[in-house]
Amino acid sequence: MSDRLYIFDTTLRDGEQVPGCQLNTIEKIQVAKALEQLGVDVIEAGFPISSPGDFSSVIEISKAVTWPVICALTRAVERDIDVAFEALKYAKYKRIHTGIGTSDEHILYKFSSTREEILERAVAATRYAKRYVDDVEFYCEDAGRTDNEYLARVVEAVIKAGATVVNIPDTTGYCLPQEYFEKIKYLKEHVDDIDRAIISTHCHNDLGMATANTFNGVMAGARQVEVTINGIGERAGNTSLEEIAMILKCHKGLGIETNVNTQKIFPTSRLVSSLMNMPIQPNKAIVGRNAFAHSSGIHQDGVLKNVQTYEIMDPKDVGIDDNSIVLTARSGRAALKHRLHMNGVDLEEEKLDKIYEKFLNLADQKKEVTDADVLMLAGADTADAHAVRLDFLQVTTGKGVKSVASIGLDISGQKFEAAASGNGPVDAAIKALKKIIMKQMTLKEFTIQAISKGSDDVGKVHMQVEYDGQLYYGFGANTDIVTASVEAYIDCINKFKK
Ligand code: KIV
Ligand code: ZN
Repeated sequence: MSDRLYIFDTTLRDGEQVPGCQLNTIEKIQVAKALEQLGVDVIEAGFPISSPGDFSSVIEISKAVTWPVICALTRAVERDIDVAFEALKYAKYKRIHTGIGTSDEHILYKFSSTREEILERAVAATRYAKRYVDDVEFYCEDAGRTDNEYLARVVEAVIKAGATVVNIPDTTGYCLPQEYFEKIKYLKEHVDDIDRAIISTHCHNDLGMATANTFNGVMAGARQVEVTINGIGERAGNTSLEEIAMILKCHKGLGIETNVNTQKIFPTSRLVSSLMNMPIQPNKAIVGRNAFAHSSGIHQDGVLKNVQTYEIMDPKDVGIDDNSIVLTARSGRAALKHRLHMNGVDLEEEKLDKIYEKFLNLADQKKEVTDADVLMLAGADTADAHAVRLDFLQVTTGKGVKSVASIGLDISGQKFEAAASGNGPVDAAIKALKKIIMKQMTLKEFTIQAISKGSDDVGKVHMQVEYDGQLYYGFGANTDIVTASVEAYIDCINKFKK
């Protein structure tokens, strides 16, 4: 058994099925190129028969990337397979991914059929796909709820018909980790010639067990995992690529390797999130904003003494430059001292004690204390840190009218004004701001949340702006969400290093 684990990325097929998160072909090409750089082995580029858009995306992705296998999904239907092969014509390495539901629920309610008939259709589809390509993957949809004995018969039959990879999806995210382990083990032990094919996992996250199930599948002998960036996908999503890649990197003793260049994880995650307009939950493993942020005093003290006290991974290994220690009311002196040091201020213990008291008072009022705040506490010159302030903002917007914004900024005491129109009030306001601050900056992430409930609630805006090759994070809060958005943008600008 090979100890190389193949990464099959389905961000552009299963991941893209999330309602409201569809990508256009250009955006899909961007993601596909990032996946190639990340080092995935297979890119599932789409379901060509499902729409002309999917068909042309598979064609264009095939042209745009070289090394990964390009895979196209089909049902166990000849016409689907014809169209998939047509869409794959420019792919250097092609795979057809065909299959059918094998659980009794699917056989009975979806197909009004019988186990024997489904087995025949599975074999016929595999043979048909095999006429076009060598690399045929067969999926047993809802394998998670399929009786193991019958599943083994289907797997054995499709391998005999030429399937090179057999996918065992837990389509509904129902399996328990031990159950999924036993399922793969059962197939390994009961299917003749099982080693002629690679067994693949494909786990959904309905009960939050996708990663655990995938990992257990690998422990039982699966050597391909079907995953998505940020775990996106229908309902609760699919297994996260980044979680599986980092589990195997952190647990080298398992002796299972992938081709993933883990330092590309973070930028790829942010790319997918921003193109799909899907914010990443702050506490998401590996790629969440807080994944490496230590906020309690004990943790911060430990991390500053030696990162190994509380960190099992180096943030740099996933492409994050620096672990951000968030300063809150629970932070200790060591964290404050470190933050001041990072800002070029080194203090004697006595002065630090005094500032620490002030810091605690401030932290009681503010959820998070920023660099500018600690510099102010230390009496350092903060003129630059808060160089830009919003003086006023006026926006006209509504249905059937073009949004227009006028903005007034105070930049280090000097007043500036500008106006612009845009595609919505936030766009208009930011365009007006950019007429005053003419820096090459790009909005990368933009999320609006209400703090509690009700139409008079304060809106919180989180933004990420890219400037000079770096990402800056900004925050704004206001009952007017357009003002909150501009304040978050300005917060980013005030953090620019030059
Ligand atoms: O979840 C699933 O069963 C699938 C198959 C179509 C592979 O996505
Ligand atoms: Zn799926």
